Amino acid sequence: MGKYNPENQDAYLLKHNFFGATSYDELEQLEAVAFSIRASQLESKGFVWLHPLSIDTLKRLHYFLFQDAYPFAGKIRDVQLMKGQTRFCQVEFIESNLYELILQLQGESVWKSIEQASERLAYYKSELNMIHPFREGNGRTIRLVIREIARSQGYDWDFQKIDRHYYMKAMIQSVVDESLLRKLLNETLSKNLTSNG
Ligand SMILES: Nc1ncnc2c1ncn2[C@@H]1O[C@H](COP(=O)(O)OP(=O)(O)OP(=O)(O)O)[C@@H](O)[C@H]1O
Ligand SMILES: [Mg+2]
Repeated sequence: MGKYNPENQDAYLLKHNFFGATSYDELEQLEAVAFSIRASQLESKGFVWLHPLSIDTLKRLHYFLFQDAYPFAGKIRDVQLMKGQTRFCQVEFIESNLYELILQLQGESVWKSIEQASERLAYYKSELNMIHPFREGNGRTIRLVIREIARSQGYDWDFQKIDRHYYMKAMIQSVVDESLLRKLLNETLSKNLTSNG
């Protein structure tokens, strides 16, 4: 069964995409265009519907972003995934781990400083990354979720400006140590001047 013998991720994506792409490069390019159109539609539509965050709203977000690319858009993955040396959450525990994390999020008090926001957001970002709920598109989905969590606490997170190598280093390190990710967030968060907090 695919669940126990996961095919190579690139080969799987090549077989299961709506573009009929014949190479992974082509798929990446088409997927990036489709994603950016959906992402900009979302920016104009706004993210009110994402709150309060739940497994359902998270799936809706992923579906919206990747509906033109993948038949598994909006679906929690059912195969084991690895990137580099990192083995992400066992499939069986994805939903329960997500549920627990969302409960923790709901119990957060108001964050009083950018330092505190960086610490909490680094925690949620690395946990969500380790859960890696979807087969593809986790980075993009989770960045938007983290930006929205930040916004709900009165902070803006401008992730578009972050250097990709710095970001990847922080994410890979966050598997064992969140300090670099905290630093990155600390440098890129700002107080939202239009919020009341
Ligand atoms: N070796 C690793 N260990 C831990 N996390 C990793 C590793 N490599 C990548 N990541 C994380 O996985 C994410 C990529 O996941 P995925 O390919 O599902 O989503 P994506 O939307 O295509 O990501 P991105 O836009 O960031 O490339 C990265 O953003 C990073 O956070
Ligand atoms: Mg990817």
